[in-house]
Amino acid sequence: MCGIVGYIGEKSALGILLDGLTNLEYRGYDSAGIAVNVEGKVELYKAEGKLQNLKDLTNEKREHILKSTIGIGHIRWATHGSPTAVNAHPHSCNCGRVAIVHNGIIENYKELRAKLEKQGCTFRSQTDTETVAHLVASKYAQTNNLTEAVRLATKEIEGAYALAVIHQDVKNTIVATRRNAPLLVGIGEGEYYVASDVPAIIKYTKRAMYLDDNQIVTLTSNSMKLIDSDNNELVPKIETLPWEPVALSKMGYKHFMLKEIHEQPDVVRNVLSGKLRASNENIVLNEVKLDKEALKTLNRIQIVACGTSLHAAMVGKYIIEDLCGIPVDVEPSSEYIYRKTVGDKNTLVIGVSQSGETADTITAVRQAKSRGSHVLIVTNRPDSTMAREADSLVPVSAGIEVSVAATKSYMAQVISFYLLAIHIAEIKESASRSELEKIKRELILLPQKLEKTLSHKDEVKTCAKKFANSKDFIFIARGINFPTALEGALKLKEISYINATGYTAGELKHGPIAMLDESMPVLSILMKGKVYDKILSNSEEAKARNARMIALTDSDDTKLDELFECIIRIPEVDEMLSPALAIVSLQLLAYYIAEFLGKDVDQPRNLAKSVTVE
Ligand code: G6P
Repeated sequence: MCGIVGYIGEKSALGILLDGLTNLEYRGYDSAGIAVNVEGKVELYKAEGKLQNLKDLTNEKREHILKSTIGIGHIRWATHGSPTAVNAHPHSCNCGRVAIVHNGIIENYKELRAKLEKQGCTFRSQTDTETVAHLVASKYAQTNNLTEAVRLATKEIEGAYALAVIHQDVKNTIVATRRNAPLLVGIGEGEYYVASDVPAIIKYTKRAMYLDDNQIVTLTSNSMKLIDSDNNELVPKIETLPWEPVALSKMGYKHFMLKEIHEQPDVVRNVLSGKLRASNENIVLNEVKLDKEALKTLNRIQIVACGTSLHAAMVGKYIIEDLCGIPVDVEPSSEYIYRKTVGDKNTLVIGVSQSGETADTITAVRQAKSRGSHVLIVTNRPDSTMAREADSLVPVSAGIEVSVAATKSYMAQVISFYLLAIHIAEIKESASRSELEKIKRELILLPQKLEKTLSHKDEVKTCAKKFANSKDFIFIARGINFPTALEGALKLKEISYINATGYTAGELKHGPIAMLDESMPVLSILMKGKVYDKILSNSEEAKARNARMIALTDSDDTKLDELFECIIRIPEVDEMLSPALAIVSLQLLAYYIAEFLGKDVDQPRNLAKSVTVE
C-alpha cells in the first residue's frame, strides 16, 4: 500500500526515482509524486492517476530537475483523502522547506492536525501524512537538526509509517524511519537508496540494510547513521540481497497476468525442487523448525491470511486435515486480530502471504507468537517482515509477481501446502506410505498437466467471449474445490468487476438458487472423485431453473454436453491435487473476460498488490 523511494549521491536523482516508482507500482497507482532539491530549493512534482502522468509532468522540466542529486518519491494507494494531485505525496509544511513521503496510516492525525492548525499551520490536503510534514517542520524549528526533528515527531505519531524526509536547509541529507511498514536502505558507492521494497533498488545495488521498527537512519551521499528512538547509535546490519536485477518484462505477453499464468508449470517445478526429490523419498523442508516431539504434541493448526492467500489456506486445511489428522481453522487475518483466539504452544499458527507484508497478517501472527504459538510463514518473500519474524518458513519461490491479481503465487502456496502436509504426515506417520507416495507422484506429474491445460486455452477463450457480458456469475464446487470456486470468483471480480460469488454446491438450494434465471451463468467445478455425482445433481437443479451452465471438468463423459452450454476440459487428476489444476482455467477465464471488456487487467481499479495498512 503506497511505495516510497529515495536517492542521495552523485547521480541525477530523477531517473532513479521514476525507475524505483515503476517497480513499486504494484503497491498502488492512483497518484504519484517526487521531491527534489534543485540548486538549493526543494521542489515538488505531483500528478493524479497512473505513474505515466508524473513521468509526463517531470519530462516537461526534465533538464531542470536532472540537476538534483537527491530526491524522494511516492506512489499512492489512497487511504485518507481522494486520489488527487493535492493529496499525492510528497507533502510539505507552510514554508515548503520540508518534503515528506509516507507509507502507512497516522492514526492520531486528526488530533495532531487540530494542534498544528492552532499553531498556525495551513493544511492543503485531506491526508493524514501532511500532519507529519508540519510536525517535522515545527520540531526542526526547535532543534535545527533534521534527525532530531524526525525522532521527536515520531514520538507524537500513532499508527504505522515508513517515512523519508528531506529539508531545504539540510542539503545532502535524507532521514528515514519506520514502524509497522517495510523500509530498507540500499548501499552504493558514494550513494544511498531508500525503498519500501527490493525491486525499487535492486538494479543499482545488492547491499542493503533493513530497518527495524522505530529505527531512524540519516543518510548523506557518503555516510549512514542509524539510531533508535532514544537516540542510541546502532550498528547497521548490512546484508547482500539474494536477488538478481529483475527485468520486469511481459516477455511478449499482452499482460503480466497472462505471462504469470503461463509461468505456473515452472513455478511448480521450482517449489518442488530440492524439497520433493522422488516419490519414495521424504519431503525436505529445512526451514520448518518443528521437530518430531513438537509435531506429536501439536493439537491444532490455525491459518491466517487475506485475499487469494486465504483461499490457498483453505485448500491447505483440506490437505492437512486429510493427511495429518490435525484440526485446522482458517480465518481472515483481519478477523483473527479482533477477537480472543484460543491457542498455546501446542498450536501451530501458519501465516500465508505472497508479500509477507500484509498488515493484518503481520498483526495476527505477532499476536499468535506472543501467546506462545509456533509461527510458520508461507511466503513468496523470504526477506519480508513476516519471514524475518517467523519461527519457521516455507518459501514458495514463485518469482516476482507483478500483476495485482495473484495467480502464480497462489499456485506456489497451494503446492507448499501439499509439501507441508506430506512432511508432517511423514513425521507423524498419520497417512500410509503408499498414499503419500501416490500424492508425490501426482505432484511430480503436475507441471506437465498444467502445460496441457494451458495449451487448451482457446476453449476458455470461447467460453469467456460467450459470457463476457454477464452481470453476475456463480461458481459452485464441493469439498477441496470449494476454495477453487471462491478464488475463481475473486479473480473475476478483481479484474472484470463482474459480481461473482463462489458457493458450496450443496448450499445453492438454501438461498442463492432464488437468483437463478436465464441470465445467470453457473460454473460447476466438476472434478472426478467423492463429490462428482453430488455436484452433477446440483448442476441439474440449477439448469432446471434456466441458469446458463458452464462446466470445468476432468471428465470426458459426453453426457455432460446436454447439461452444459460450455465445457472447459482439463487433464484427469487425482482429486486431492485437483485444486492446483482447476484454478488455472478459472484464472484464464477471468483474464479473457476482462480482456474482452477492455479492463486494465494488470492494475485493476481500487486494488493494490500489497496492503500494508489495516
Ligand atoms: C491484496 C492483493 C491480493 C492479495 C492480498 C493478500 O488484497 O490485492 O491479491 O491476495 O492482498 O496479500 P498477501 O501478500 O498477504 O498474500
